[in-house]
Amino acid sequence: MPDTEIAPREARQHDAQNSLHKLFEPIKVGPYNLRHRVVMAPLTRSRANRPGNIPSQLNACYYTQRAAAALIISEATQVSMQGQGYAWTPGIHSREQVEGWRLVADAVHETGGLMFMQLWHVGRISHPSLQPDEMLPVAPSAVQPKAEAFIENERGEGVVAPCVKPRALQVEEMPYLVRQYSRGARNAKAAGMDGVEVHGANGYLLDQFLLSGTNRRTDEYGGSSERRAKLLFDVVETVCEVWGPEKVGVRLSPLGTFNDMHDDDPEATFSYVIEKLNRYGLAYLHIVNPMLAATGEDVAYIERAKRMSQMIRRTYRGVLMVAGGFDGGSAERWLEDGNADLIAFGRLFIANPDLPERLRSHAPLNSPDPSTFYGGGERGYTDYPSLAQERGEAPRPVTDGRWR
Ligand SMILES: Cc1cc2nc3c(=O)[nH]c(=O)nc-3n(C[C@H](O)[C@H](O)[C@H](O)COP(=O)(O)O)c2cc1C
Repeated sequence: MPDTEIAPREARQHDAQNSLHKLFEPIKVGPYNLRHRVVMAPLTRSRANRPGNIPSQLNACYYTQRAAAALIISEATQVSMQGQGYAWTPGIHSREQVEGWRLVADAVHETGGLMFMQLWHVGRISHPSLQPDEMLPVAPSAVQPKAEAFIENERGEGVVAPCVKPRALQVEEMPYLVRQYSRGARNAKAAGMDGVEVHGANGYLLDQFLLSGTNRRTDEYGGSSERRAKLLFDVVETVCEVWGPEKVGVRLSPLGTFNDMHDDDPEATFSYVIEKLNRYGLAYLHIVNPMLAATGEDVAYIERAKRMSQMIRRTYRGVLMVAGGFDGGSAERWLEDGNADLIAFGRLFIANPDLPERLRSHAPLNSPDPSTFYGGGERGYTDYPSLAQERGEAPRPVTDGRWR
């Protein structure tokens, strides 16, 4: 399943004694004045309309419910058919998809929200049944991942299927990949988004190029950190040309192992990339907390993750967002300690559409239900209540995503 190696977790209530001053301080991100620092992390929910993987009124309702986030980062959105790896994820490569996303962006703006779109190409984390003409998924090298895609079976149900051995991209195809991202960036603009985030994390195409475990190339896209990072920077540059760098974020997952990822020297790889990202003047750098990949009490790993986080903070000179495993109290501590400028919340935002208000008022948090994370309709999607709805002071959404 997309991006969820993390064990399900009980929703946590933070310490009511702690005040969350830092979390509710405004901050400027690019040209935008954010009211606070509680960001909605990108969350794949596999609920686009089919055929065509087109966002709908239901998706607009879901995002609108969460518009009190300082910034919404959309679910990962494929820039091409080739970039799709899971059933019913939305795209940003067809006219209908642009229109569907416009519905979402307009609704979020009407509610006072701000929204970036996460641009996605899954690379090898796919399956022929999702690819144009049932071709093989593409990757830097023909290295089969021990990972699963989420596909639709003959009965129209979502099922997991092992990923296949991908086809290694030819060097002549690389400009075509970059064009997929620039078209996605232009389409995101046409859809009325406020910016875009380049998905360079969690074992998808750009991460596959970046890490030595998945990149065995001997051409200008493989070998040294600089060459493995070439595609990432080509994409960042093309997207910045469309949007201006101050409306572009980049997401990375240093030390992440999700989707069968590995790098021989992650410290060298990521210090090179992060130092170079300083040149662009981006809206923000978004890091998946390296601590997320820690298993049990592996002290050496925990120390390594800490050092990685410190290196990132020291090296990156712009706005730094961190996601992964936060509640209100730990988010506040990270901000207070200067380890981040913004905190992105994933699973807590799934279950708590009004998460900022709940954190601010120390209200109880709803628990997310992992069985409804991917696919389906409004259940587990738009039916988590806000505080006002719990108190009977606001209408609840009904099945077609409209308000009752
Ligand atoms: C259901 C689900 C879908 C996710 N989809 C995405 C995604 O589309 N893009 C992405 O970069 N990360 C994705 N992630 C990872 C989250 O953005 C986040 O990093 C992760 O959930 C850890 O944060 P949390 O502990 O606050 O949930 C997903 C996570 C979950 C649980």
